[in-house]
Amino acid sequence: MLPVVDPETVVATAVPPSPLRLTRLRTVGTPRILTVDDYEPLAKQVLPADVFDYYAGGAGDEWTLAENRRAFEDWVIRPRMLTGAWPADPSSEILGTPIAFPVLVAPWAYQKRAHPEGELATARAAARAGTVMVVSSTAFEYLEDVAGASDGPKWWQLYVFTDRGMTVDMLHRVHAAGFGAVCLTVDFPDVGLRHRDTRNGFQIAIGLRSNELTYAPDLTWDDLAWIREAAPVPLLVKGLLTAEDARIAVDAGVDAIVASNHGGRQLDSVRAPVTVLPEIVEAVDGRIPVLVDGGFRRGTDVFKALALGAGAVLVGRPACWGLAAAGEDGVADVLRILRAELENTMVLAGTRSVAEITGTNVERA
Ligand SMILES: Cc1cc2nc3c(=O)[nH]c(=O)nc-3n(C[C@H](O)[C@H](O)[C@H](O)COP(=O)(O)O)c2cc1C
Repeated sequence: MLPVVDPETVVATAVPPSPLRLTRLRTVGTPRILTVDDYEPLAKQVLPADVFDYYAGGAGDEWTLAENRRAFEDWVIRPRMLTGAWPADPSSEILGTPIAFPVLVAPWAYQKRAHPEGELATARAAARAGTVMVVSSTAFEYLEDVAGASDGPKWWQLYVFTDRGMTVDMLHRVHAAGFGAVCLTVDFPDVGLRHRDTRNGFQIAIGLRSNELTYAPDLTWDDLAWIREAAPVPLLVKGLLTAEDARIAVDAGVDAIVASNHGGRQLDSVRAPVTVLPEIVEAVDGRIPVLVDGGFRRGTDVFKALALGAGAVLVGRPACWGLAAAGEDGVADVLRILRAELENTMVLAGTRSVAEITGTNVERA
């Protein structure tokens, strides 16, 4: 007779090796690190307190930061049975770039403060995972070095400096270095009220003083033209939260939208991206892909967003915690966990491919 084994107990306690245990470990990691959230306390252990707060924190009362997680509870999955959906294939494509699964690494700043190898390690990890790394304009490394750190696809996140000429020079280099797209972040005309940083007296202290680089506070939709001209690659606009802006973006000819509130770090009291996703998807009406980020920590979160019409999701802090805790391997492991959880969700929901995940697979809780 087969022993009755609860897989959760198997990973949580030391048991003799068994095929079940090995399968389980291969799928979801070691007993200590099972989920993306398990990386956060590890990162907290190794990071100076003010750096951890900079990465973890949000703006204002951090209502939006918490809402980004809570909002996933507004949606439940509608699984279908006996569809034979095994094994699931999470591979996809975004803006012409094939990806092993539809989770991209979001642009996040000052990665060198998390780990000495910073953006270079993240670039290698994203390539290992078969996905896109979006590299922040704040990258400490030369952009050419990040581009060359791996063979994986990379997009450039753009902050426009007050010095437009310097921005154009940077975009020429971005284009020459082979970045596959430019992702213009539009929710940063000023920095959000990051009280943790103010209270901590947080300084970046990696060679740049914040007053050496200032971001243009006065961008408009008209600025897209010269940005496109300087780097003739697909242009994404990151940071939209309304159907109105999504329609303007499509009319302005952008190639994709990222629904985002900057991980709750900019304007507090705005809705969660997964909440605004349906209205943005409806406004865009299939004309361009809609990506989304903010609070994605579980394969089920990714599945819900895909079912609501997202082309892909991005993760910021999960990569941050992985990098701080274990460098390249940590980021690769975070991405592996998200992929394994998405595959598990797809199988249990009866959807064999990303294309099979549709609006019928999700409903309001
Ligand atoms: C520490 C940190 C730094 C960030 N820096 C940037 C940045 O330089 N440019 C940008 O467009 N977004 C930046 N973001 C926002 C992320 O791209 C992304 O929108 C957000 O992290 C998604 O939420 P999540 O962290 O819950 O996954 C940053 C986020 C974090 C956590």
